[in-house]
Amino acid sequence: MSNPERARLITAALKARENAVAPYSSFSVGAALLADTGEIISGANVESASYGLTCCAERVALFKALTDGKRGFKAIAVVAAWPGGATPCGACRQLLAEYAPKARVWIADVDALEQVREFSVEELLPRAFTFRKDTELQR
Ligand code: THU
Repeated sequence: MSNPERARLITAALKARENAVAPYSSFSVGAALLADTGEIISGANVESASYGLTCCAERVALFKALTDGKRGFKAIAVVAAWPGGATPCGACRQLLAEYAPKARVWIADVDALEQVREFSVEELLPRAFTFRKDTELQR
């Protein structure tokens, strides 16, 4: 994957982060997915007064993309104000393993956007539970 493509996705995640709704943690996160078609679908975290209902930026982006009919993703970028960036939580890893198993995961800190950490979904969640045969074959 080219670096300009990565930079474009990180920029989209950074912009999405501006629309985070995080009144309880004040921890804004932006995510952007790159579909196989080249389209970018972004999202940000949304928190609830019933804290457990909070939805991470990664899942918001993924649910937006899926419910807009997008399938197949090349990469996801996640941007937060945290040293080294914030890696996806367990719930998001599960969803990525199911719906974006081939995606490169790019993690960046807002204050050091050029220092991107890269992971595969398999690295983040080895031996994920899924009913999908195509992901089973990748293990
Ligand atoms: N959060 C994300 O959106 N993505 C992550 O990768 C880590 C955590 C959100 C959830 C919650 O709104 C806030 O960050 C603090 O946990």
